[in-house]
Amino acid sequence: MKVSAIKDGTVIDHIPARSLFKVISILKLDRVENPVTFGNNLESVKLGKKAIIKISDVFFDEKEINKIALVAPEAKLNIIRNYEVVEKKVVTVPDEVVGIVKCYNPRCITNHENIITRFSIVSKKEVLLRCHYCDKIIDQDHIEIIR
Ligand code: CTP
Ligand code: ZN
Repeated sequence: MKVSAIKDGTVIDHIPARSLFKVISILKLDRVENPVTFGNNLESVKLGKKAIIKISDVFFDEKEINKIALVAPEAKLNIIRNYEVVEKKVVTVPDEVVGIVKCYNPRCITNHENIITRFSIVSKKEVLLRCHYCDKIIDQDHIEIIR
């Protein structure tokens, strides 16, 4: 075990290494007061290199945690109570993404006016988003999170 076990909280495993900081950003973990530990570039048979995040004493609601599916669709959540894994969950890509992702098109109106971004999901397997305003398609690796 490369990152020590926690007593209570949430372990997010099987995050692609390149998505670790996007997940931290989506869940606003830089603003959490609880202990947060993470490991990056750990060996994974499935992902090549993976990341793992452990957040003590925090249990996310489903809507909040599903946002990470945009950048880590294969992530697995483990709910830990008294050192035991009491529940395992997968994340699911939402049908619509509002106000989380920046449009990649520099000419898009959302990059010039104070408009909340909005994307529909074109594909959930290999995540693809379409901007509601300019129709630009954004793939998983070009998803930029709005802070
Ligand atoms: N874990 C933890 N603290 C605990 C118990 C588990 O941080 N008290 C972490 C483990 O390190 C692991 C994840 O939670 O990363 C899931 O634990 P477990 O189901 O025991 O591991 P695996 O069987 O390897 O999980 P899977 O194959 O489902 O990813
Ligand atoms: Zn756009």
